Amino acid sequence: MTVPVPIRIAVALVAVSALVLGVWMGLTRMGWSIGSSPAPGTHGPILVLGFLGTVIGMERAVAIGKSWAWITPILAAASVITMLAGAPGELTGALLLVAGTVLVMLFAVAYRMQPEAHIILMGIGAISWVLAAGTWLAGEPVPSLVPWLAAFLILTIAGERLELARLIATTPSSKRQLAGAVAIVIAGSMIAWVSADTGARIAGLGNLLIALWLLRYDIARRTIRLGGVTRYMAAGLLVGYAWLAVSGTLWITTGLEFGSTGYDAALHTLFLGFIMSMIMAHAPIVIPALAGLAFPFGREMWVPLILLQISVSVRVAGDLADSYEVKKWGGMLNAIALTLLVLIVVATVIRGELAKRRPHVAG
Ligand code: HEM
Repeated sequence: MTVPVPIRIAVALVAVSALVLGVWMGLTRMGWSIGSSPAPGTHGPILVLGFLGTVIGMERAVAIGKSWAWITPILAAASVITMLAGAPGELTGALLLVAGTVLVMLFAVAYRMQPEAHIILMGIGAISWVLAAGTWLAGEPVPSLVPWLAAFLILTIAGERLELARLIATTPSSKRQLAGAVAIVIAGSMIAWVSADTGARIAGLGNLLIALWLLRYDIARRTIRLGGVTRYMAAGLLVGYAWLAVSGTLWITTGLEFGSTGYDAALHTLFLGFIMSMIMAHAPIVIPALAGLAFPFGREMWVPLILLQISVSVRVAGDLADSYEVKKWGGMLNAIALTLLVLIVVATVIRGELAKRRPHVAG
């Protein structure tokens, strides 16, 4: 039995809405008054677990081809609705706990079919999701989820890249280096339960080491020399890894202290600089794979990617120079980059689908 297409479409629409609303909440948190966004306090969880959790859950459900695997994206999408409705944190936390647990089960099943290191890595990423949800369910405030939210995304992405990096022959010793870095991330995130400052600094070291590992071993270092979509993807990946390295360094030096000058920069070099560069880089392959839609890559995809880099740089400069105005405009430019991405993706898909339906004229 497969999951009906209307349910898949509904889940995908909730994910896109979570991105748009999450960014609006972020702008509200930053002091922009563009209407009054719902539930600004859930900005981080709605973007990480509501938007990205749903997308990653869908991607994995499609890859494994089992209908029960859709529980993850369906419950993650449901959590978007409970967050927007301002439902008690316990309800949202419980939905996300079950969603993350099913994702862990999915990786356990996948490992039995294909016992590879990248599956273990993504499985540890899914466990980090469960721990983020559990921490929330235990009544902890949103900032205390941050190390686990970050670990979920970083380990999932590192796992996906490891799957491809096999192409450039990673050695047992390079895999041990990666395992060491992952252990540091997990140890740091656990220590953050008892000492937020020390834990964040240790997790930051792990994040930095993972960034250096990816910069060294990812196939993107070779494919950047090629042209077209391949070069675009490689550029997005490499610049994203550089942001992850900057973020790791900021976590080590600032300790991710809530309310401190460097807090916003330490968060968004990671969640915007690294994660959104990854999303932009992967869009040309994920959209056809997930939705079966045509995606004829065009050079306009470079515009949001480049604007994202400029806008994150402006925001970080504002943060570090303690200039509220510069930071605020950096945030607005971040939002424009993400909006452009959504618009260009929709236009590209429409163009591709129309071209598919157009009858071919024999020449
Ligand atoms: C236009 C884009 C964005 C804006 C304007 C924005 C704004 C903000 C602001 C003002 C904060 C509070 C920082 C502080 O207390 O000093 C924050 C926190 C946070 N943001 Fe963003 N953000 C944006 C994009 C993102 C994205 C794309 C993600 C994730 C993929 C993200 C994840 C987080 C997380 C995890 C937190 C900390 C938890 C929380 O306080 O909710 N942000 N953001």
